[in-house]
Amino acid sequence: MPNLVKLPGLVDPHVHLREPGATQKEDFETGTKAAIAGGFTTVLDMPNNPIPTTTAEALRQKMDLAKGRIYSDVGFHFGASKESIQYFAEVEDQVFGLKLYMNHTTGELLIEDDQILEEVFSTWTKEKPILVHAEGETLQKALSLANKFGNKLHVCHVSLKEEVEMIKAAKQNGLQISAEATCHHLFLTEEDAKRLGPFGAMRPPLRSKKDQVALWQGIAEGIIDMIGSDHAPHTKEEKMSSEKVPNGVPGLETTLPLLLTAVNEGKLTVDKIIELTSKNPRQIFNLPEQRETFVEAEITKPYTLNPNHLFTKAGWTPFAGMKVTGKVKKVVLRGAIAYDGQSVFGPYGQVLKLDTGSFYG
Ligand code: DOR
Ligand code: ZN
Ligand code: ZN
Repeated sequence: MPNLVKLPGLVDPHVHLREPGATQKEDFETGTKAAIAGGFTTVLDMPNNPIPTTTAEALRQKMDLAKGRIYSDVGFHFGASKESIQYFAEVEDQVFGLKLYMNHTTGELLIEDDQILEEVFSTWTKEKPILVHAEGETLQKALSLANKFGNKLHVCHVSLKEEVEMIKAAKQNGLQISAEATCHHLFLTEEDAKRLGPFGAMRPPLRSKKDQVALWQGIAEGIIDMIGSDHAPHTKEEKMSSEKVPNGVPGLETTLPLLLTAVNEGKLTVDKIIELTSKNPRQIFNLPEQRETFVEAEITKPYTLNPNHLFTKAGWTPFAGMKVTGKVKKVVLRGAIAYDGQSVFGPYGQVLKLDTGSFYG
């Protein structure tokens, strides 16, 4: 095996950059530095901020805040709520998808009422995916709604064997559906959750070995289309506070090292990584090409994941201490060196808008 591999700029369809409103956890600068250091030249940001991205004005403010401060390109997802339906037509050109929470998690966004769910699915454009946080049985409901109204559906962080099976069946029935898995569900199980305590708390939670095996099988069979980090940073203090532990783990800087380690272990190929982290997400979210953009990574030298070497404000990772083979050595964004294996340079990122395939600004 060669020691160095060259990859296209990676895409992460699922990150929580936390700005505005929770910049003690992360902000546009630190979050996109973490993205670049992890090989991600494009990330798509989620709307579950303290003041959620559920109005045209909130979206505009987010884009304005990001402008000039981001190291990777950033696109946005809009948030679904009863009140946000009125803005769908206005924002659909500016975002990559609609995020719909059908289970409880960080933030206030959640829709459980069937009538409002029907309104969301019937009103949202059929051209762009609805991204669902829908665990277990709830996923069945999301699939039925997408089937009834003809929506594109993207299933976030698939974690259960039964979810893989539901997605497989839905794809066989011709639904326009895509699915994502995270590295925490691929590389950790409920056994690790015991050891990690609050630092292993996330939604969906870590699952059983049987579920983990089903996810890898789902990747091999093309049922899982992409990897999302679900980068969801919280500070150490927040995680250790005696009050309710916030769910979520950072992931931008550990995803590629872990995936490359799986190559070394014979569980993936480099071509498959390119499909999962670049080709498929670019196609499914209709992302603009980035010229002269690539990543170089070392793939054979073992080292230990060290939380002190991270750019995320979280400053910790559930993978700390893990032996990996896979290190980002260089990231080039539109011809400029954005990362040299040690430092991040820029900011060279741009706010992405989908309508023209061009950039905001
Ligand atoms: O663990 C999670 N954290 N799951 C989610 O769905 C939200 C995320 C967050 O924003 O913290
Ligand atoms: Zn989620
Ligand atoms: Zn998430």
